[in-house]
Amino acid sequence: MKVAVVGATGMVGEVMLKVLAERNFPITELLLVASERSVGKKLTYENKEHTIVSLADAVAAKPEIAIFSAGGDTSLEWAPKFAEVGTTVIDNSSAWRMDPTKKLVVPEINANELTKHDKIIANPNCSTIQMVMALAPLHKKYKMKRVVVSTYQSVSGTGVKAVKQLENEITGIKGEMAYPYPIGRNALPHCDVFENNGYTKEEMKLAREPQKIFNDKTFSITATAVRIPTSGGHSESVNVEFENDFNLSDVRKMLHETPGIVLQDNPDTNTYPMPIYAHDKDDVFVGRLRRDETQPNTLNMWIVADNLRKGAATNAIQIGEYLIENELV
Ligand SMILES: NC(=O)c1ccc[n+]([C@@H]2O[C@H](COP(=O)([O-])OP(=O)(O)OC[C@H]3O[C@@H](n4cnc5c(N)ncnc54)[C@H](OP(=O)(O)O)[C@@H]3O)[C@@H](O)[C@H]2O)c1
Repeated sequence: MKVAVVGATGMVGEVMLKVLAERNFPITELLLVASERSVGKKLTYENKEHTIVSLADAVAAKPEIAIFSAGGDTSLEWAPKFAEVGTTVIDNSSAWRMDPTKKLVVPEINANELTKHDKIIANPNCSTIQMVMALAPLHKKYKMKRVVVSTYQSVSGTGVKAVKQLENEITGIKGEMAYPYPIGRNALPHCDVFENNGYTKEEMKLAREPQKIFNDKTFSITATAVRIPTSGGHSESVNVEFENDFNLSDVRKMLHETPGIVLQDNPDTNTYPMPIYAHDKDDVFVGRLRRDETQPNTLNMWIVADNLRKGAATNAIQIGEYLIENELV
């Protein structure tokens, strides 16, 4: 496979290269792509130095797969150009997610929707992926009615600039700000930009994307997304009301048996998911399972995952693996 990684110098791009190598992705030729600012710079992949090339040069090389993590505008402009030369694009930005002609894929849930004709495939938002991973088996069995989610999101979700802002604040250096306020010792109820309805774009992604992934509009989701000064992964408090009643031990068993989920749920030993444990792991960690005592058929849980791994790079690479295994590229 000739593979292009677009946004190779970014936060997601760096993890993308790490995960591609770890999973022995069948690369015969690797094209590393970033903005014009980085063209000509060198990056190392599997002990081999690669020179960063421009988007135009990468299109001309006609890779079989291009994995994009370079922002929505770059995807909107360049993904169709790759698709035109026969490349299958797997896109990490929000550019194509809600486009009805594009698939929005979490491989464990809906990779079977993919066909050879899907030339631009969208990777869901990082906080959506970890939430739907835990909700999928439960929705299948008990049928979700309504979800209330509050997120506690890592600065790595904003990109290189935000990680630098937190580092600068910790070390007392005055530098460029990724957020409108300090993030150290703070919590910003503000992830991505505000929309006209008063919600942020991140909150609306959490509300809309799961309906598309599950191909089901019978449930509703309301979200509050908060940025906190962690760097290892995103955490989510999720309250989910089902149509049907559940047994807590069945829920535990089901989550325990779901591939990609790790159950960490034992109050007696203070066992629960935390970003410091999820960091650099591909799994989604679920715990603090409790029946909501104020309402029937309702569950509370806490979900943590590394937003750069399952929330971005790993999910995209799993899509690529599925395409290759099923001869769709
Ligand atoms: N961080 C996360 O948890 C996460 C999760 C899921 C999805 N995403 C999405 O992934 C994308 C990248 O996020 P990130 O956190 O990695 O951001 P980042 O650290 O700011 O990196 C941005 C990358 O995009 C490249 N880029 C910027 N403008 C470009 C252009 N005009 N042409 C070509 N390349 C360009 C940058 O290259 P230079 O170094 O040359 O500027 C860099 O490689 C975004 O769309 C984001 O929404 C991020």
